[in-house]
Amino acid sequence: STPLIAILAGDGIGPEVTAEARRVLDALGLDLTFEEALVGGAAYRASGHPLPAATLDLARRADAILFGAVGDPACDTLERALRPEQAILGLRKELRTFANLRPARIFEGLEDASTLKPEVARAIDLVIVRELNGDVYFGEKGRRTNAAGLREGHDLMRYDEDEVRRIARVGFETAAKRRGKLCSVDKANVLETSQLWRDVVIEVAADYPTVELTHMYVDNAAMQLVRNPGAFDTIVTGNLFGDILSDQASMCVGSIGMLPSASMDAGGKGLYEPIHGSAPDIAGQGKANPCAAILSAAMMLRHSLGQAAAADRVEAAVAAALRAGVRTPDLGGDASTRAMGDAVLAAL
Ligand code: NAI
Ligand code: MG
Repeated sequence: STPLIAILAGDGIGPEVTAEARRVLDALGLDLTFEEALVGGAAYRASGHPLPAATLDLARRADAILFGAVGDPACDTLERALRPEQAILGLRKELRTFANLRPARIFEGLEDASTLKPEVARAIDLVIVRELNGDVYFGEKGRRTNAAGLREGHDLMRYDEDEVRRIARVGFETAAKRRGKLCSVDKANVLETSQLWRDVVIEVAADYPTVELTHMYVDNAAMQLVRNPGAFDTIVTGNLFGDILSDQASMCVGSIGMLPSASMDAGGKGLYEPIHGSAPDIAGQGKANPCAAILSAAMMLRHSLGQAAAADRVEAAVAAALRAGVRTPDLGGDASTRAMGDAVLAAL
């Protein structure tokens, strides 16, 4: 049957960039059904909740979700459970999307927008596979007054072997489809969790003889990511380390407006979103770069819809539009969101 795509555009620049991604998907002429729903601040204003039951129901029914961004300064004074950002956290939790794929590569001609030296930036073509449902974010948390009478807080870092095994497999599968190099990032010199992580990753490696596995401590990985990012192919890491390293990697490729992501569940369903937020500072001005959203749609085609050739076409069209010099202000140009989308469509 025709795949159902949930379009959750959200707040701020979310609807602006998602509209361009939708135009690109439409232009491919594939057999897809789209259904839209409110999420984030937009949903809160309409229904009193950032993730209404109807939106969650659509997300559950859909074969894939194209997400924009949530976040609205007008909602900043709301209690935490009603904040727009709770919608994306709720979706990840409800959909059990445990594998976050964040590719970072530099498009031809964008070296000058990177914070790195052009010759270093030019070599970046990596994917960070980040575990999304475990680690210190989901371990037991608490506050207390300790024996010395001091206020104390704690967050338990924990993983069980099944959680490590399933993300390790995603790491190996990803590497096997790329340049065959997997770097597992941990802190096994100090953390018990990381020693288990390393043991399990090594066990899983036996099933992937063609992938070359290396291990790196996270502090060194942070350093190598800016020193010589071209040396990385696929990185697999836990939730906390992956959060930090992937934001770091994003700046190496020119603009946060260029980076897509996928959050996958065990069955191949995914939530696809640009890594940026709702950018209230530029919302409604037609200045947002839609490339991250368009590239997220390409990831959706590849990872959830079995349309690898269409995904390749979209990525090539983005590259061609950029090569032709069309750039939004974050990349140093003056093209509008719509003009950037037009250029991608023209290249298609
Ligand atoms: P942000 O990513 O929205 O913006 C950071 C900076 O990058 C801003 O100067 C913005 O103008 C710029 N920027 C972001 N995307 C861009 C694009 N496509 N084109 C050109 N420039 C772009 O992060 P910020 O400002 O920390 O957060 C704004 C709101 O978004 C907050 O409410 C935050 O909680 C939310 N947020 C939501 C996320 C999500 O929905 N997954 C992720 C990150 C933040
Ligand atoms: Mg982050």
